[in-house]
Amino acid sequence: MKRRIGILTSGGDCPGLNACIRGVARASYSMFDTEIVGIQDGYAGLIAGDFKEMKQSDFSGILTLGGTILGTRRTPFRNMRVIEEDNVDKVKAMKSNYKKMKLDCLVCLGGNGTHKTANLLSEEGLHVIGLPKTIDNDIWGTDVTFGFHTAVDIATEVIDRIHTTAASHGRCMVIEIMGNKAGWLTLYSGIAGGADIILLPEIPYDLEKVCDAIRRRAEMGKTFSIVAVAEGAMTVEEAQMKKKERMAYRAETGFSSIAMRLAKELEAKVGVEARAVIPGHVQRGGTPSAYDRMLSTVFGVHAAKLIAGEEYGQAVGMAGNTVTHHPLSEVAGKTKFVPNDAQAIRAARAMGISLGD
Ligand code: F6P
Repeated sequence: MKRRIGILTSGGDCPGLNACIRGVARASYSMFDTEIVGIQDGYAGLIAGDFKEMKQSDFSGILTLGGTILGTRRTPFRNMRVIEEDNVDKVKAMKSNYKKMKLDCLVCLGGNGTHKTANLLSEEGLHVIGLPKTIDNDIWGTDVTFGFHTAVDIATEVIDRIHTTAASHGRCMVIEIMGNKAGWLTLYSGIAGGADIILLPEIPYDLEKVCDAIRRRAEMGKTFSIVAVAEGAMTVEEAQMKKKERMAYRAETGFSSIAMRLAKELEAKVGVEARAVIPGHVQRGGTPSAYDRMLSTVFGVHAAKLIAGEEYGQAVGMAGNTVTHHPLSEVAGKTKFVPNDAQAIRAARAMGISLGD
C-alpha cells in the first residue's frame, strides 16, 4: 500500500506543530509505503501551489523545535469562496493543486478556522484529516489541544515572576493572557500562578466587584494583588453590546488592551498603584513542553492510522485519556468555551479567587 500525504500548518503557530508533523511522518513511514509533500504557509501554499517533496530526514531533529518547519499563515475561512482582487478562485486552486501533487490525503494542523477550511475541502471531495493545534484550547471535540499546556506553563511563569515586583512595590499587577474568545489559558495559568482575580470572556465582569476584591485583600493586610485577565474578557455592559458597538466603545476609551484599561481603572477607583503586563506571543513561542510533545506525537500517530485505514474527513482529538476522532463536519464551526460549571471554575471560587461576577 502506498500513500502520498500532503501536510500543512495553518493559523497561528504554536509549540508542538513540528512534534505533530514528525508523529504523522514517522508513524506513516513505519506503517506503509509513504511519500510526503510539505505544503508551505498553510492554505496559502495550497492555493499558490507552493510545496516540496519531503525526505524522511526532514523529520529528524524537530521534536523539540517551536514554530513550524512548513511555515504558516492566516487564510480566513470567510474569504475562501470569495474571489478577491487577485482573481483567484481559491477552492478551485486548492483542489487543482491537490490533484497536481497526486495526493491520497491532506493533513491539516490548525485551530478552528483551519478545521472549517479542512471541512470545506472534505465536502469538495478531498481526503482530509484535521489535527487540533492551538494555545487557546477552544476546539470542539477534543478535551485538549496541543500547544495549550506549553502556553499554560509560560503564562504561569509570567505570573510567578510578576509576584516579586507586585510584593516588593505593593502594586496591583494586571496580566493580559491570550486565548482569543476563550478563557482556558487564563483560567489554568491564573490558578496555577496563584492569581487573586481571574477574568474570563465567558464570565463578564463587574468592575466594582473587581475593585471590592482588591479592597478586601488590602483590608486583610495583603499589600499586593495579581489580576489575570483574558484578552477577550469584557464587562457586563460590554457583553450586552453588539461586536461593532463594543469595538467602537473600546476605541473611544483609547485603550486597545484590556489590561492597560483595567490597570488605569483600578488606579483611579481603588487608589492602588497598578501596572499592566502583556506577555503576548511569548505565550506561544519556543519549545513544546514534555506533555505537548507527547500529545502531539500521539495525535500524529492517530492521523497516520486513519490514513492507513483510509478513514478520511476526520478531526483527531482527545477524550479523557484516549485519542479519538470525530467527523470534520461535526467539529467545524463550533467553539469549545469554558463552561460556567467547569471543575476549574468551581475550584477557583472555592479558593476565594474573584471571577469579577
Ligand atoms: O489563536 C492563537 C492566538 O495566539 C490567540 O490566543 C490570539 O488571540 C491570536 O492567536 C493572535 O493572533 P496573531 O498571531 O495573528 O496576532
